[in-house]
Amino acid sequence: MSSLITMKESMPFNEQEKESFYRLLNARRDVRSGFLDKAVPDNVLQNILAAAHEAPSVGFLQPWNFIIIRSQATKQKIKEAYLQAKETEAELFSGARKDLYESLKLEGILEAPLNICVTCDRKRDDNNQLGRSTQGEMDIYSTVCAIQNMWLAARIEDVGMGWVSILEPMQIRKTLDIPDSVEIVAYLCLGYVDEFKDSPELETKGWNKRLDLEDLVRYETW
Ligand SMILES: Cc1cc2nc3c(=O)[nH]c(=O)nc-3n(C[C@H](O)[C@H](O)[C@H](O)COP(=O)(O)O)c2cc1C
Repeated sequence: MSSLITMKESMPFNEQEKESFYRLLNARRDVRSGFLDKAVPDNVLQNILAAAHEAPSVGFLQPWNFIIIRSQATKQKIKEAYLQAKETEAELFSGARKDLYESLKLEGILEAPLNICVTCDRKRDDNNQLGRSTQGEMDIYSTVCAIQNMWLAARIEDVGMGWVSILEPMQIRKTLDIPDSVEIVAYLCLGYVDEFKDSPELETKGWNKRLDLEDLVRYETW
């Protein structure tokens, strides 16, 4: 399968391209609802995966794998794992906060036509310790970079993507038959959607606010 990513470019970006890029960053959303019953074509999926595969990785390890899940039976098992994990997580909250938590839609496992589990193979290119001899988790961070690329590529392809982390990794491992040496990094739900919201739902529903950037930037020392 071929994708849109075909060649390495060294040309600077023009103003219109810059504008599009920043618009894309702004328009990316975590999507959990409004999935349409419409398959994601293979070439679109390929563009999203190729975007992931363009990500930076420590030692150029490319430690990722992508498990593409379309089976409704598999999704059902993951959904059950989600419901269990959510029940446990809900115990962390009380009163109005708990009510708000319960009202949030935090996954789209069954509705999304496509689920993708992204993993990090902790044994890949094991002798290649470049860049991770002092910080062993850099392969995981590299995999997260790939996931962010997927999020952006999905958005530009008009495909919604949501990250579901309310899952016990052991249950995903068992359901998807993932070996112990492979770390589960993300469980994602993807599909065409009826809308992309302007702001994070956790913001509009009052769970949290976007922090002021200027409060987060320090100069020279902490
Ligand atoms: C590592 C990670 C895990 C997340 N897990 C969940 C999740 O389990 N359920 C959910 O509804 N959103 C999840 N999200 C999405 C966040 O809620 C979302 O990114 C945040 O509210 C900001 O919204 P936005 O992505 O639309 O800008 C996750 C995001 C990240 C980066």
